[in-house]
Amino acid sequence: MLEVEDLRSAYGRIEVVKGVSLKVAAGEIVALVGSNGAGKTTLLRALSGVQPITGGRIRLQGESIEKAPPHRRVALGMAHVPEGRQVFAPLSVEDNLRLGAFQRNDDIAVDLERVYTLFPALADKRRQAAGGLSGGQQQMLAMGRALMARPKLLLLDEPSMGLAPLLVQQILDVVASLKAEGVTVLLVEQNATAALAIADRGYVIETGRISLQGSGAALLRDPKVREAYLGV
Ligand SMILES: Nc1ncnc2c1ncn2[C@@H]1O[C@H](COP(=O)(O)OP(=O)(O)OP(=O)(O)O)[C@@H](O)[C@H]1O
Ligand SMILES: [Mg+2]
Repeated sequence: MLEVEDLRSAYGRIEVVKGVSLKVAAGEIVALVGSNGAGKTTLLRALSGVQPITGGRIRLQGESIEKAPPHRRVALGMAHVPEGRQVFAPLSVEDNLRLGAFQRNDDIAVDLERVYTLFPALADKRRQAAGGLSGGQQQMLAMGRALMARPKLLLLDEPSMGLAPLLVQQILDVVASLKAEGVTVLLVEQNATAALAIADRGYVIETGRISLQGSGAALLRDPKVREAYLGV
């Protein structure tokens, strides 16, 4: 689904993604974990095309996309749920969802129902302004908006950030159920335990470089991961 080779990205002269290579196979959930400032958000933004790269290659289903603008990447099947949700606060829940389908001209009614089935809390609030939702509901809305594009590959940036443990589990349960529907997921998290627990495979990123990789279960057992990210 996704092949990333020696990807580099910088702010001015400061390189923060320093030659990252990773792969995500169709149908997998792959977790990318790492501490504050490791470069996770920059990497995800580079993949979706909203952050310039200074080198490397990105292939989506075999097609080179590193020069493609963001909307083209969406059309090819990539959707990005940004860090901090970034829903359109004054717009209604349903209008936020409609915006996620901006490149489609077929019927989206069935997709709206799919999102409301995945996130029943949103169904009751479909006519309300998104800005009035709780943090957890805004995260659901951001994910729902991305799903409206019918992505093959979903890039999720810290969906659990700032949420109570019960909501974290709810959100990650939905991520796991998306896999069952055939959506491939690259999941960025500081919450390494929860992310690796639902991931088929994972990568650890440290100051812009991949330092470890393995199955979700193997990384959860790895003493280096346990010490650095799980606090045990
Ligand atoms: N707009 C920016 N301008 C300059 N430097 C930036 C900018 N955004 C991020 N950085 C720096 O780039 C590095 C990587 O940041 P990034 O946000 O990608 O990390 P992250 O792994 O997502 O961190 P977090 O877990 O806190 O979200 C950090 O050193 C950060 O300070
Ligand atoms: Mg980040």
